[in-house]
Amino acid sequence: MKNLIAEANQAVEQFAGQVKARYYPAYHIAAKSGWINDPNGLIYFNNQYHVFFQHHPYNEQWGKIHWGHVVSDDLVHWRNLPIALAPSQEYDKDGCFSGCAIDDNGILTLIYTGHVVLKEAGDKSVFKQVQCLATSKDGIHFEKQGVIVTPPEGIMHFRDPKVWRQDDQWYMVVGVNDHDNTGQVWLYHSQDLYHWQFVQVLAKMADPNVYMLECPDFFPLGDKYVLTCSPQGMKANGYHYRNRYQSGYIVGDWQPGSPFTITQDFTELDFGHDYYAPQTLISHDQRRIVIAWMDMWDSVMPSQADKWAGVLTLPRTLMLSSNNKLLINPITELKSLRGIQKKITSINLSNVIQDLQLDSMQCELILKIDLTNSDAERAGIALSASPDGKQSTLLYVDNQAQRVILDRTYSGEGMVGYRSVALPADKFLTLHIFIDHSSVEVFVNEGQATLTSRIYPTSEKRTLFLFAENGALRVEQLDYWQIKNMRG
Ligand code: FRU
Repeated sequence: MKNLIAEANQAVEQFAGQVKARYYPAYHIAAKSGWINDPNGLIYFNNQYHVFFQHHPYNEQWGKIHWGHVVSDDLVHWRNLPIALAPSQEYDKDGCFSGCAIDDNGILTLIYTGHVVLKEAGDKSVFKQVQCLATSKDGIHFEKQGVIVTPPEGIMHFRDPKVWRQDDQWYMVVGVNDHDNTGQVWLYHSQDLYHWQFVQVLAKMADPNVYMLECPDFFPLGDKYVLTCSPQGMKANGYHYRNRYQSGYIVGDWQPGSPFTITQDFTELDFGHDYYAPQTLISHDQRRIVIAWMDMWDSVMPSQADKWAGVLTLPRTLMLSSNNKLLINPITELKSLRGIQKKITSINLSNVIQDLQLDSMQCELILKIDLTNSDAERAGIALSASPDGKQSTLLYVDNQAQRVILDRTYSGEGMVGYRSVALPADKFLTLHIFIDHSSVEVFVNEGQATLTSRIYPTSEKRTLFLFAENGALRVEQLDYWQIKNMRG
């Protein structure tokens, strides 16, 4: 039999030579070459963090999906490992779709969706999806053990299993498009990981337009349970749901044998352009950490010209606030990547643009704006800006709309439009920003909201400007760090 994994690894190496630095991340997970989408199989196992991802190694487009694999000791520095899964069996021959990893009594075990196309017809293709299991002795090479869950008759979209252990049982959530064309999350349970029984429909979306809930994850946080998922079919509504598909969370109460009773209905997890298919893991010290795909289906992806596409977000901690909202912050381990530092205090600007002369290729910034002493109509920071200021990504306070805006109109190749969140009703607005070649991640006021977007600046030199239009901006403090490369 052909060694499909070896062939796929070779393809990745072959194209890696064509990957250029201009958009390639220095401290985010990405494939050496080729396409990636969802993070899969996140787990802390045998003192190491594993991240797998949906990967098409043969070119920079989505295709027959494999599982790529990286490991880390600290959630910051990641090493590439060989591809873990390749489509090879009659039940997964058209793709090893998204899934999870678990520790089965010391055996690293992957549970994923086997995808088989029965009839090719674009959007109307007919396919079959089943849940499959693979095990590993060394944490690198995996042996497929076959199909463990098949869908009931007539269910076609049935994917993205997330499994956990509780009260001596295994539980699994799966995303489903039900017979009535609604998006649902189904719950299964098992004693042995190989035989599964359907328990209940854990959740449906109230929005009748939602036809599929992709990539569900379900976990305890504080004294609640949180369901994260990626609904398809929602329509844009004002400032909300403006991307092709959404990702969000639902908070409620649950225990085995009971329904999931909702206390906080669907809320978006991120408000930027590029955030999808989040999955969580528990860190060595019991923090709940989320990683997502930092792209969106059907977006322009200029890095494809360089033989690669797709990046994962930084790992972020999840905490539940007293009003059942998620607080989302970068993991503190990232501080180990901080390099050259600059701190500026008390900057007062009025009707001007100020070049900070700080390199904006790969950096971290904390910008503390005094809102009570800033009356500019628009004021903030231009990120990844060309020295002449013509190209930049604008992050600013719009005082008239009372919103924090991330504007990609001048962000580079193929970029348009803005995203925003409500301006917090506090004295200070703190914007914690990570820039890495072709991405911007913004954490607003200690994680009350995040905005995540890809950008494609063409300038080789990238700087930062502060600006205030028609009025004043007072920056209490600006902290800047260059960020080191995480690879070698
Ligand atoms: C989400 C998704 C999953 C599926 C995978 C296929 O982005 O569509 O539902 O398993 O990607 O690559």
